[in-house]
Parts: sequence; C-alpha cells; structure tokens
Amino acid sequence: MALVQEITTPTVKYEQPLGLFINNEFVKGVDGKTFETINPADEKPIVAVHEATEKDVDIAVKAARTALEGVWKETTPSNRGRLLTKLADLFERDIDILAAIESLDNGKPLSQAKGDVLNSAGCLRYYGGWADKIVGQTIDTDPNYLTYTRHEPVGVCGQIIPWNFPLLMWAWKIGPAVAAGNTVVLKTAEQTPLSGLYAAKLVKEAGFPPGVINILSGFGKVAGAAISHHMDIDKVAFTGSTLVGRSILQAAAKSNLKKVTLELGGKSPNIVFPDANIDNAISWVNFGIYFNHGQCCCAGSRILVHESIYDKFLERFKERTLANKVGNPFESDTFQGPQVSQLQFDRIMGYIEDGKKSGAKVLTGGARHGDKGYFIQPTIFTDVNENMKIVQEEIFGPVCTVQKFKDEEEAIRIANKTVYGLAAAVHTENINTAIRVSNALRAGTVWVNNYNMIHYQSPFGGYKESGLGRELGSYALENYTEVKTVRIYLGEALFG
Ligand code: NAI
Ligand code: MG
Repeated sequence: MALVQEITTPTVKYEQPLGLFINNEFVKGVDGKTFETINPADEKPIVAVHEATEKDVDIAVKAARTALEGVWKETTPSNRGRLLTKLADLFERDIDILAAIESLDNGKPLSQAKGDVLNSAGCLRYYGGWADKIVGQTIDTDPNYLTYTRHEPVGVCGQIIPWNFPLLMWAWKIGPAVAAGNTVVLKTAEQTPLSGLYAAKLVKEAGFPPGVINILSGFGKVAGAAISHHMDIDKVAFTGSTLVGRSILQAAAKSNLKKVTLELGGKSPNIVFPDANIDNAISWVNFGIYFNHGQCCCAGSRILVHESIYDKFLERFKERTLANKVGNPFESDTFQGPQVSQLQFDRIMGYIEDGKKSGAKVLTGGARHGDKGYFIQPTIFTDVNENMKIVQEEIFGPVCTVQKFKDEEEAIRIANKTVYGLAAAVHTENINTAIRVSNALRAGTVWVNNYNMIHYQSPFGGYKESGLGRELGSYALENYTEVKTVRIYLGEALFG
C-alpha cells in the first residue's frame, strides 16, 4: 500500500501521509499491516493507514533513544524552543488542511476544528518559550559545599492519545516533552490517525532532527500495550479511559517502573446558584455539556440547579438545547457533528436506554439523530437520583442530567459525590459564594461563570480517579524532567 494519498475534503484537497513516522521518514510497518479510518458523518472509510505492531514500537524507541543520546543532547535549549515555535507557525500556515482533516476523521465542526488547530499552535509556541527557561536551584547548605540541581530530561517518552481532540492532545503531549529535552514515541488513537500524521510531516519541515518525534498509528492492545510495557521507555503519558489508565499503571509497575501521568475520565458538576446571571449560565451550561458532542473528559455532565430557579432553568435550557444544530461538520452553522465511532454511538445509546429504564425522565432528545452517521440528539435527563448509572458514570456524549439542590452545602455534597475529580463549575454573581464553593470542590479545575475554558498556560488534570499529574502550564514540565542534585565539597577530607 502507498505511503501517501491525495484526499479531497469539502474544503481542501491535500496529500495525506499514511506511513508510520520514524526517524523523520514515513515507513510501512514491519508486518505490513494496515487499517481503515472511518468518516463518522457517513460511516464510510476515508483511507487506510499503516499499522504499528510491537516490532515497530521497538524500532521507534531505538530511534528516539539514539536521538536522545546524540543529536538532541547536542541541541541547545533555545534551538529546541526555536523548532517548537517553527512547528507552531507551520500549524497556523496549514490551518485549513489540519482543520479539514480533523472534521473529516473525527466529525467535529470545522469552526471548532480550527479552534483546536490554533490552540495546538499556541500550546507548541508556549512550550517553545519554556525550552530555554528550565532552571534548577543553587542551595546554600554549608560554606564547604556547592549544591545545585539540574532539571534533566526524563528520557524516551511514550505518549498515548485519544480521538476526541486528536491534534490538540498531540500538541499537549509533545510540547512539554520536547521543550524539556526528551524524545517521543507517540501513538495516536486508531479512530483518528490522520491529523497526527500530517503534523508529523510538519515536524520534518520544521527541521527537527530525526528520531526526536516519532508518530505511530495503531491499536491500544497492540502498539499501546507495547509502549506501556516497554523496558526502554522512561515515561508514559496517557489520555483516555480510566479502565485503560489503570492498565497503563499496572504495565509500568510490571515492567521498568516508568514514570506515569494519566489524564482520565470525569463526571463534572456544573452548579447554578439562584443569583447567577441566567442568560450567561444557560449559555455556559449548554457549551459545557454539548461542546465537542459531549466527548470531553471535563464535560459538565451533571448540572445542579437551585430549587428556586429549577423550573425556569429547565424551560430555558431545553429551548437552548433544541437550538443547537446537529449535522454535517462542514456546514458553517453546525454546532454538533457525529460521535466518533459506532462503538461510542452504541455506548451512549446504551446509557440513554439505561437512564430511561431506571426511571429518569427525558426532557428532550433521547434518540438517534437522522439515519446515517453516528449522530445523537442532545439529551437532557431530569428526575434522576444520585445512584443512577447516568449520574455516576462517564457517558462521553451529548447527554446530561439535571438535579435540584436546596442550599450551598447540599450542592457541594452532590458535586463531590463521584469517584472523579477533573473539573467543576460555579455560576453565581456573589464573589463569596464563588470562592467558598470553588475551595470546597474536589476537582483539578473550577470554572466560575464559564465552562471548558482551558488555557495552555494553566494546568489541567484530575483529583481522585480522574488522573495523575497535571498537563499544561509550567506544571507539565515537572512530568518531563528528572531533578538531579549535585553536591561539590570544597573542604578537607572529613572522615580521616
Ligand atoms: P481508550 O482508553 O480505550 O483509548 C484511548 C487511547 O488508549 C487510544 O489511543 C487507544 O488506542 C489506547 N489504548 C487502548 N487500550 C490500550 C491498552 N491496553 N494499552 C495502551 N493503550 C491503550 O478509550 P476509548 O475506548 O476510545 O473510549 C472509551 C471511553 O473512554 C470513552 O467513552 C470515554 O468515557 C473515555 N475517554 C476519555 C478520554 C479523555 O479525554 N479523558 C478520551 C477518550 C475516551
Ligand atoms: Mg475516523
């Protein structure tokens, strides 16, 4: 099978790389396997890409190790920064292509895909800025010693990303790793391999030395597991399901105790107090759950509303939900495209059926949208109780539950009643309520009077079963550096 193919999308025509990207070349897999990626809007195959197996992971790790100990070690921090900045520029230059790929392969509306490209470029540029600002300390312990720390790269980093933000997750992972002087073997999600391969082409164009960034298409149980079990990978970073996150941690424990960071699921509460600006709150609640078709780890899927405004809120929220246009990702007024795959579609429909069976009331939605493509009607459940599956488990689709609370204490109790702790939000005009409740929520991010407004300069990650470690901001650099203490003795021999 070819290593490149011309693809025509409704907005652009471009050359799609299909191979595994190792040592700055696109190559076939050792076993010659390929797999198809599907357009979720029409359920038809787009193209087949080459598949990485364990042997290809080995080859990519060797390339990354060689680069780490050779050319990359010799590259100055400011040149690492320059390369990341150049890559960010190329993302922006090719925004129309990258966004079209994302819409085609993932199903997200083109305008949202463009936002992803800009955020990816912003993230890469931000970490480009960090590359020459990673500094240690000098520590004055005693006049006879010079003690200092070095923040050194961890080494070869395995990175496994999901399909909900294919390009953005690529940038979140690669930015801090490369800025800190590591080399990378990244596996994209099998549902959405295309944008990561196009970005790989830009890696080469930006001038990165061979072996620094390696991109593999492949399946979790094969290439993903090979990464998490690998004896010569020093660190693994994963974003995806909590179930697989656990298996990554186990694989690290069973192999070489590689460092692990995990960005996992959520069941985030979005709390509306009676003094909130209701127009703004409705708008953010709508965006909080339905953005990216509910396929966000931080989706505001549990909406908690004060009893005094509950009825009015429901009426307005239903109206707002019905105004979201579901349809073709390439149409400019589309807000919600298809779910990413048949499997995700079936999972979400399963949750909707479960909600109905358990006695929850469907306020709107509750069914498939249309008869082709993985489209689901935006769905609101009311009359739920705290123990229902639809209230406790991550649905990862355009489905939310609305619950009533009587006072602040109850809102906090319900909000924290989850195994997850990724995000939360508070809507109120009262600064004291905002701060008190933000402090009481056990979540890695709390938004006040907004939702989903992640910024690459500020950290993101989870309490409890939502993960380990933080991505983004300067905090992410901690995942990608080992701290070395050097103590130089300046005095006479101590012990005779
Ligand atoms: P997943 O966790 O299976 O997939 C995410 C990534 O992990 C993909 O690259 C996949 O190939 C890889 N992977 C799968 N099994 C692996 C293994 N044994 N070892 C190493 N890597 C492996 O998630 P999936 O099945 O796509 O979605 C299931 C659910 O996970 C969703 O319904 C959602 O609840 C959650 N999810 C959360 C995401 C987040 O952003 N936190 C992103 C994607 C899914
Ligand atoms: Mg696809």
